[in-house]
Amino acid sequence: MEIDASGRTVLPGFVDPHTHLPFAGSREHELERALRGATYEEIAAGGGGIQSTVEATRAATYDALVELGKTRLNRMLLHGTTTAEAKSGYGLTLDDELKQLRVVQALDSIHPIDLVPTFLGAHVVPKERRNDREAYVREVIDRMIPEVARQRLARFCDVFVDEIAFAPGEAERVLKAAAGQGLGLRVHADQLKDCGGALLAARLRAASADHLERSGEEGIRALARSGTTAIVLPGASFFMRRGAPGLARRLVDAQLPVALATDFNPGTCPTESVPAILPLACLEGGLSPAEAITAATLNAAHSLGLASRVGSLEVGKSADVQILEVPNHLHLVYHFGVNHCRTVVKQGRVVVEEGLIAGAPPGPSPGMA
Ligand code: NIG
Ligand code: FE
Repeated sequence: MEIDASGRTVLPGFVDPHTHLPFAGSREHELERALRGATYEEIAAGGGGIQSTVEATRAATYDALVELGKTRLNRMLLHGTTTAEAKSGYGLTLDDELKQLRVVQALDSIHPIDLVPTFLGAHVVPKERRNDREAYVREVIDRMIPEVARQRLARFCDVFVDEIAFAPGEAERVLKAAAGQGLGLRVHADQLKDCGGALLAARLRAASADHLERSGEEGIRALARSGTTAIVLPGASFFMRRGAPGLARRLVDAQLPVALATDFNPGTCPTESVPAILPLACLEGGLSPAEAITAATLNAAHSLGLASRVGSLEVGKSADVQILEVPNHLHLVYHFGVNHCRTVVKQGRVVVEEGLIAGAPPGPSPGMA
């Protein structure tokens, strides 16, 4: 197969290593409240936040979640993403977590984007279990992780370590149980406060420590020694108006492998677009455009254990390629807010042609779900 890319720029497909893909509902009214001054913690304490998405996701059927997922994956593909991680974490009962992970499994089999499933049963303690959080932690460890592992529904386990979620001691028990079942480890670390998340991820040699907005020097130094990939989520910091200026630069300078992700979710970063993240990673985070692109491709693949297969254009790897209508890679940051991706090739097959899903009937592109 030959494709004429004259005058255009050819890059590896993006790898998005942190998304909360299978959810229902949306939270645009929380944005209005946040704009009037409410904090994320206040919204969560009032029954909004993660808990409101848990309720919407529990109420949604498997089929409805698959349909929502397809629309979102099409939007990712149109923006150049060819591999993505996808977390559960909006079910928070055994059955609802399994439902989310089965949705990810189905989407992986029917959509060109390759999905890497992560179990996030320890996202928060669900409302109905708040007067006995220890029982919930034990349920995650004794029932959920073994069942998820038995059904091979996840490759990784993630825990949200934070004041509004799980303490490092609770997270450590969950993550050790997951490691014991053969799952790789990821940690939502130090997003809202420095809660020791980076130190925990380093100690357990997690595959990734994500967020890190509030991590101290000690945590960052520990991560540099552990080989853990730091996943920076500048879209979430931006959307929450809790920036961490220069964070990505600081991590690169501390010799950590740094990846970028959308953190696509209905609360703190409702975009599927990796190109929306790149200018933030440079202008807020301090990366060069080339570093940001490497972070969103090869380093992201490395954090998922996929660097030998995807993330760069090399003989022997999967032909996951995007062609952008720009003269060089700098335009991904410079000419921001516009989708430059025209062609996407996944495993050697053209899946986006002239900015449209290949084989899709002509008409408007799928609307925001
Ligand atoms: O990565 N921090 C925890 N989880 C998500 C937010 C989830 C939500 O608000 O629904 C995050 O930012
Ligand atoms: Fe997240």
